[in-house]
Amino acid sequence: MKKDLISIKDLSVKEIEDIFTLTDALKKDKLKYSQALKGKTLALIFQKPSNRTRVSFSVGMFQLGGLSIYLAPDEINLGVREAIKDVAKTLSRYVDGIVLRTFEHTNVVELAKYADVPVINGLSDLSHPCQGLADLYTIQEKLGRLKGVTLAYVGDGNNVTHSLLYCASKLGVNISVATPKKYEPNKDVVKKAKEFAAISGAKMNLYYSAAEASKNADIIYTDVWTSMGQEKEAMVRKKIFESFQVNKKLVSLAKNGCLIMHCLPAHRGEEITDEVVDSGNSIVFDQAENRLHVQKAILIQLLK
Ligand code: CP
Ligand code: NVA
Repeated sequence: MKKDLISIKDLSVKEIEDIFTLTDALKKDKLKYSQALKGKTLALIFQKPSNRTRVSFSVGMFQLGGLSIYLAPDEINLGVREAIKDVAKTLSRYVDGIVLRTFEHTNVVELAKYADVPVINGLSDLSHPCQGLADLYTIQEKLGRLKGVTLAYVGDGNNVTHSLLYCASKLGVNISVATPKKYEPNKDVVKKAKEFAAISGAKMNLYYSAAEASKNADIIYTDVWTSMGQEKEAMVRKKIFESFQVNKKLVSLAKNGCLIMHCLPAHRGEEITDEVVDSGNSIVFDQAENRLHVQKAILIQLLK
């Protein structure tokens, strides 16, 4: 049976650990895997802009001996020019895997349902699993452990928050999320993550104060206040999120040496200040680099 990567919710702890172990091996010996996906092809359907996801999947396929084909928003024109079902069935006759970056999460679910090849969620309005996996891998790499680490997420309860909630709660990472009222993470995601946390022993807390969530954190993580597709709300959000900026004062409440994370792209001067994102404790570009390595591991596991 083919396997997809739609949400971290669906992965077992063992599957996540296997991805991390293979990522370690890929980082250690790049040449060893240079033909791992020889002759394999990956379609990249993107309905939203991208730097990291698009480039890291393309470069990743190349480094594994395979090929990627980028399909811009107006090419396939998913669901408009052609039904998702028909796109899934057609592409399955050509390629060995599909990455989809889209708006409604149900689009990824539907594509996966009808495709005979693995489908990878390259970001939907609900989740960003490749980001969450690369982030937790980066934390493990930097701190040498995951269990007992405290991650504070400050800002909008969005797709990235949801994937962090799933991944942290599965792996025993304590997670504190601070958002303004009405911008909390999705209730179903929180409920499920609480179940995972009960198994792993992770502590999970939601706050309406950035300061409270950041107290004693090992890591502070933030993301844009206005995600792709929400541009019309940008002005309103800027006001509402004002007290959720990750700045020097907020960082001073966390543990000494607290690491700074951001999935990028960053809106400098909004959710994060220049001095914080450029500081010595910022690991944002390590996260970005690890997208490549972790996704190579995912590609090998799903496409091989
Ligand atoms: N973090 C991330 O997914 O970046 P892109 O939107 O540039 O792909
Ligand atoms: N929450 C952001 C993440 C970008 C990688 C967005 O969806 O635009």
